[in-house]
Amino acid sequence: MDLVAVVVVAIWVMLPAYIPNNAAVVVGGGRPVDGGRTYRGARLLGDGKTWRGTVGGVVAGGVVAIALNALAPGAADWSGIDLPTFARTTVVGLPLGAMLGDMAASFLKRRLGRDRGASVPGLDQYDLVVGALGLVAVVDWPWLVDAVTPAVLVAILVLTPILHRATNVGAYLLGLKEVPW
Ligand code: CTP
Ligand code: MG
Repeated sequence: MDLVAVVVVAIWVMLPAYIPNNAAVVVGGGRPVDGGRTYRGARLLGDGKTWRGTVGGVVAGGVVAIALNALAPGAADWSGIDLPTFARTTVVGLPLGAMLGDMAASFLKRRLGRDRGASVPGLDQYDLVVGALGLVAVVDWPWLVDAVTPAVLVAILVLTPILHRATNVGAYLLGLKEVPW
């Protein structure tokens, strides 16, 4: 695979995992997942993790995966790049894993005494990558090995912080997020 193909496949594979966090920002609100519960004086997850945001995020990521499946034959024909398709395992696993990773990061942040919205470099960017690829490793290892080659994994690790930064600044400028990270 040449560099362009590696980058395209990396973004293609990760789109169903990238979208949930952005969708959650748009549709989030209402009842927090932790129900307001605390552990040792700090919230379990905090008000930034809501049921509406979580379910909306997973649904949005799943819809994106299904849409990409529909586009794959045409896009592969046109670009000459072998684009992976998403089975039921990954349609659910990528967005659900991304949201679980994001929640695990919030859990850790609260344990570190960081308030909602605080930035923890590294954790903020890679929580969804670890969550999404980690869950897919459990539910569909053959797909992961086939779609995410070592080169694609490196591209994901390089591109994710860049895309993360760009979308968060965009969401902040649109007034969707209170902080640009
Ligand atoms: N959001 C949500 N449910 C989720 C994830 C996100 O409702 N599972 C919404 C919340 O409105 C949240 C916003 O998306 O404030 C931005 O998400 P994120 O940056 O992950 O949350 P933070 O508010 O920064 O909180 P934390 O410090 O816990 O990450
Ligand atoms: Mg945040």
